[in-house]
Amino acid sequence: MTVLVAYASAFGSSREIAQHVASRMAVALGEVECRSVEEVEAVSGYEAVVVGSAIHNQAWLQPALLFFNGHADELATRPVWAFSVGMADALPRPFRKRGSALQQERLAGVLVKEVPLRGHKIFSGVYKAGQMPAPLLMLFRLIGGRFGDLRDWAAVDGWADQITGQLAKPASSTSAGSIAR
Ligand SMILES: Cc1cc2nc3c(=O)[nH]c(=O)nc-3n(C[C@H](O)[C@H](O)[C@H](O)COP(=O)(O)O)c2cc1C
Repeated sequence: MTVLVAYASAFGSSREIAQHVASRMAVALGEVECRSVEEVEAVSGYEAVVVGSAIHNQAWLQPALLFFNGHADELATRPVWAFSVGMADALPRPFRKRGSALQQERLAGVLVKEVPLRGHKIFSGVYKAGQMPAPLLMLFRLIGGRFGDLRDWAAVDGWADQITGQLAKPASSTSAGSIAR
């Protein structure tokens, strides 16, 4: 089985999550390719696709949206999972869960219109003070916001393993029945 893990990343943390997911899945599934969305010309050669993007201003990066829309017909005929990388875990603790849930709702609403997803996961990435507009910085710190590498690698591993488990099932027991072997 050849699986594509495609990503759009502005500062690298989403790329590293994609690479980590791809390496982990490759141990069980064999051929897993990890590419920037801009490098992918077609998805027809892949049996399953995982696609992720950094979140900017509550939306996926433009190259990821172009990838998703541009390949929607092909994506819709194979199992697809999506992940989004934001800064929910940078928020003050009482807002983290809610922030992530709202973001999930908003992004999934946009994505699912194009392609039915098997799953959509939100991860936190690397968020640096310099990425926040200066007028908000002091307030954000005052209310308990934080910066840094917020990636939860155990959660990334867990999600990659869930996908691997679904793809490794015999074709007859997959819901879409579209996984060629
Ligand atoms: C201009 C800009 C806008 C951002 N907007 C959001 C946002 O709306 N929601 C969010 O959760 N994170 C937002 N972030 C945080 C990034 O998504 C986060 O830092 C992520 O790790 C970036 O991934 P990357 O390193 O792959 O570019 C924003 C970051 C920048 C620089």
